[in-house]
Amino acid sequence: MSRDKPGKIIAGRYELLEPSGEGGMAVVWRAKLIGAGNFARPVAVKRIHAAKGADSHFVSLFEEEARVGAGLQHPNIVQIIDFGVDDVGDYFLVMEWIEGLDFHHWVRSFPRGMEVTPWPLVTAIGVEVCRGLGAAHERVTEDGQVSPIIHRDVSPSNILLGTNGTVKVTDFGLARAMDRASMTRPNVIKGKLAYCAPELITGAKAGPPSDLFAVGVVMWEALAQQRLFTGKNDLEILLSVRKGEIQRLDELRSDLPAALVMAIHTALEPEPANRFENAKSMARAFSSILHQHTEPVDAEPLGRSVRAALERLGMVKQAKASRPSADPAPADPSSVDLSLSDVEIMDVHVSVQDSVQDVPAPISVQKSEPLRGLWSDEDEKALPDEKELPDKSASFELVRKKP
Ligand SMILES: Nc1ncnc2c1ncn2[C@@H]1O[C@H](COP(=O)(O)OP(=O)(O)OP(=O)(O)O)[C@@H](O)[C@H]1O
Ligand SMILES: [Mg+2]
Repeated sequence: MSRDKPGKIIAGRYELLEPSGEGGMAVVWRAKLIGAGNFARPVAVKRIHAAKGADSHFVSLFEEEARVGAGLQHPNIVQIIDFGVDDVGDYFLVMEWIEGLDFHHWVRSFPRGMEVTPWPLVTAIGVEVCRGLGAAHERVTEDGQVSPIIHRDVSPSNILLGTNGTVKVTDFGLARAMDRASMTRPNVIKGKLAYCAPELITGAKAGPPSDLFAVGVVMWEALAQQRLFTGKNDLEILLSVRKGEIQRLDELRSDLPAALVMAIHTALEPEPANRFENAKSMARAFSSILHQHTEPVDAEPLGRSVRAALERLGMVKQAKASRPSADPAPADPSSVDLSLSDVEIMDVHVSVQDSVQDVPAPISVQKSEPLRGLWSDEDEKALPDEKELPDKSASFELVRKKP
């Protein structure tokens, strides 16, 4: 949002300090909630991109999702604090501020230090992520109705790691708001294809198993230090997800416990029914692997590892230079916008399963610029300037053709 600048005060109480990152739909600012007296609290303010903000239908859906998200309270879910519109009509979502970095940056900090990603920490993070997802999947409303919230956009950048060792999943429901808004407009779905479960490509509805598949991809990539589903463009990635060829993790790393490899490959089963029964049982599986194979992994070593990752990425120095806060924080874990607005449309003939409901129409994909992989040579060259880093995931747009 170009009108936003450091120092700007939104809704009389949120002072923008500096942009912290940018995703497909919004810019996230590190900000300060100013209260009476000297009260101040760090917060994250998410500003919807102008083009999205201009769409009142999208905004009303965003508002609805923010309201639902605000009701989700769990130690592994980023708390939504506020949602509103400022005096010039721009929208904002206020969340708790996580001092640290996202999983994407944490993972890619390891090759810089010539280290493999420590599997006990990845497993411990997996436990916490699954606990957060479990709480959302089993959500019960105030009046006692079971009303699950499916994340739909589990990806490395939506998992935040605190310097104090906390693990929190963010952006619940936002993908749904985008999908639903799009359905009534140009019939566009937006998401991150590389983390998309194969059944979604063939038109099935997102559900708990599709979130678990995404966690499997995130963990596989973290341990393998490479992308799982790759391609030169979104179409190729889509075909790779659909093909479902997944290299065994133990062929790539010999130090992983067999039970961990098995658990991750269970989450990555192509058939949703063959994955874990639910997020909680997946969390329990990872937790028991930790108990059997290592010393307990708690917040202390994880926090230490987050602080070390910030050091390796050179983000602590930047943070100290620009922030009044004493704590280290990511300076600008920004992502490259892989917006596909001006790309050629290419049909993909994806067969729709008999059992599929809800989305009967064939799907076509907009062909994008070639993806810059997470761990490609090109990426490594860009590492000295964190601002130039490419995003961790592909944005994609599937266009549903009217039957
Ligand atoms: N509550 C938060 N506290 C601290 N940093 C945050 C918070 N939320 C987001 N960020 C940072 O801002 C970055 C951008 O977030 P944003 O959600 O806009 O984009 P994204 O996660 O990359 O993509 P997507 O649009 O799919 O969510 C994140 O990667 C993270 O580093
Ligand atoms: Mg996000």
